[in-house]
Amino acid sequence: MALQFTTTASTSAKSEAERAAVLAAPGFGKHFTDHMAVIDWTVEDGWHDARIQPYGPFSVDPASAVLHYGQEIFEGLKAYRREDGSVWTFRPDQNAARMQRSAQRLALPQLPTEDFVESLRQLVGIDEAWVPTGGEDSLYLRPFMIANEVFLGVRAAQTVLYSVIASPAGPYFPAGVKPVSIWLSREYARAGKGGTGAAKCGGNYAASLLPTQEAFANGCAQVLFLDESGDANLEELGGMNVVLVKADGTLVTPKSESILDGITRNSLLEMARDLGHAVEHRTVTLAEWRDGVASGEIVEAFACGTAAVITPIGAIKAKDAADAFGDADAPAGPVTLALRAALTDLQYGRADDPHGWMTQL
Ligand code: PLP
Ligand code: COI
Repeated sequence: MALQFTTTASTSAKSEAERAAVLAAPGFGKHFTDHMAVIDWTVEDGWHDARIQPYGPFSVDPASAVLHYGQEIFEGLKAYRREDGSVWTFRPDQNAARMQRSAQRLALPQLPTEDFVESLRQLVGIDEAWVPTGGEDSLYLRPFMIANEVFLGVRAAQTVLYSVIASPAGPYFPAGVKPVSIWLSREYARAGKGGTGAAKCGGNYAASLLPTQEAFANGCAQVLFLDESGDANLEELGGMNVVLVKADGTLVTPKSESILDGITRNSLLEMARDLGHAVEHRTVTLAEWRDGVASGEIVEAFACGTAAVITPIGAIKAKDAADAFGDADAPAGPVTLALRAALTDLQYGRADDPHGWMTQL
């Protein structure tokens, strides 16, 4: 049976003027709305006590399992305001299903899709005024789940907390749609065979931080990971999937069991097929990309994800000069820009929704 939410409204909500100041330049992940959704789970009672409560710190016992063993998963999706004022989100059932898969891998309980979607609806309902209007800003929604049991033994926790927080968001990359440079990590991997690469769990991101520091130090926006095979097969970026565009319009994207199954990427590939592009979802080597750029066979590349939307990739930089290629100053390509426009037109309700991907909140 679907959970019923109770609501405790915040008594210290931001004023209209404070909110307007945030919405004028939200940045990414810096500001949070007045409320959050919370649902508890215990092995005895299952999911219970679904509620909307004022945004604020949790009280977490120092022995809570999440602080020691990283038993944590999360999701990311956005709420978009249309010109008529209504607020919609994109394929929330897909995020719910992926969170269930992540939960399975991290030995956490699975939250039913209807309760996941209802938690978004309840939070966006009470904090609707925080959904930006106009432009390509949105309200980023961050559902997450932590092992909250006070116990230092190493086993799946029997007490878990699910929550959703919301953050007004502008572009993830401050330069917007300008191409970014990407740092190739040969030294560090984020995931391996049988590991947690396909799950959206905090540990994968923790593993990406050191190479990401290296990327930033070298003027790059993200790090590119290869698989463990030694064949330099492409995996993904620290927080985005990668798609290459061939001169004949074919889209090529890596297939791997240790990368996140991106909802943006899956949707773009489907939209591209609808537009007549061929799509290849298969193993892709770094050499194929590099040689394809040199020969003119590969003419565009982009990163895609909820936060990044579609961001063109200009150049690959690397410790070893032989690994570096591309042009950091090249303008965004036409296929990248056309797909970006098609996706954002759909998300902001400016285009038809033939697949029924949009859900009103
Ligand atoms: N890969 C990683 C590692 C990510 O963090 C993300 C972002 O969520 C993606 C890919 C893209 O996934 P999605 O399009 O579902 O946001
Ligand atoms: C997202 O796109 O939702 C992510 O979780 C990736 C991260 C770079 C914010």
